[in-house]
Amino acid sequence: MSPAGGGSAPARPAGTGGTGPPGAEPRADGAVIELEHLSRTYRVGESEVRAVDDVSLVIRHGEFVALMGPSGSGKSTLLNLVGCLDTPTAGAYRLAGEAVQDLSEDRLAEVRQREIGFIFQAYHLVPRMTAARNVELPMILAGVDPRARAERVARALEAVGLAPRAHHRPDQLSGGERQRVAIARAIINEPSILLADEPTGNLDTRAGAEIVALLERLNAGGLTVLLVTHDPVVGARARRILRIRDGRILSDGPPESPAAAGGRMGRPPEGVA
Ligand SMILES: Nc1ncnc2c1ncn2[C@@H]1O[C@H](COP(=O)(O)OP(=O)(O)OP(=O)(O)O)[C@@H](O)[C@H]1O
Ligand SMILES: [Mg+2]
Repeated sequence: MSPAGGGSAPARPAGTGGTGPPGAEPRADGAVIELEHLSRTYRVGESEVRAVDDVSLVIRHGEFVALMGPSGSGKSTLLNLVGCLDTPTAGAYRLAGEAVQDLSEDRLAEVRQREIGFIFQAYHLVPRMTAARNVELPMILAGVDPRARAERVARALEAVGLAPRAHHRPDQLSGGERQRVAIARAIINEPSILLADEPTGNLDTRAGAEIVALLERLNAGGLTVLLVTHDPVVGARARRILRIRDGRILSDGPPESPAAAGGRMGRPPEGVA
């Protein structure tokens, strides 16, 4: 471990206004996601929901982490905070060494685009676009040269085993295939982190297992994966399980450890008891 764990973020280069954003250097200790006392409170009328409540944790480059907990426990809220789709009401978040709360909106959009890929239970593909076009979209938004795009799309579809379906629209694909398109789209700009909110939730066991195997392959290639799942079989594949309830992390450890082993195969799923 690096002794330089004092928490000082590297000096941030001046913004460059869009083209070639300055890279956030990975920290020496490999931390890519650092949450310190992070909270997200929703106010609805008179009442207050602490959807994420004082969460502190570090996820390092190359980890495969499952986030598990009952419905309403704050999994999506936490994932959205990590993905910079939402902002915390308290606490600090450093993403690849950069203090997210200090970034301007433009700069945050750049960091998010560069560092993070997101996949969802419902795929969120653009219905009228082919698989290839869906995968190309983030590169258009990122201003990637058109000549480079086609080649990268072909490679990404190949990587998820979907080259023969490049010209299919989402309604001409199976659920598992749609999710693979969504994964290809999520990784097309080569993010360092892939965030997945119940990516197997709409799939049968076999298609779900294929998606998990694909995530494992991507992780083996160096991608950091944070996966929300209800499925204890999926969760047990991760090397680290975070268990959350009422917005708080209850346990954090490998699936084998007694603290985190509640969701192993054959046990009742989270929240059932
Ligand atoms: N926009 C919102 N406004 C108010 N309360 C919200 C909002 N979004 C979520 N919540 C509340 O925050 C809590 C956490 O919600 P969240 O969606 O993070 O749960 P979850 O663990 O992802 O659940 P599920 O497994 O059902 O997807 C819930 O109590 C929810 O009602
Ligand atoms: Mg959710």
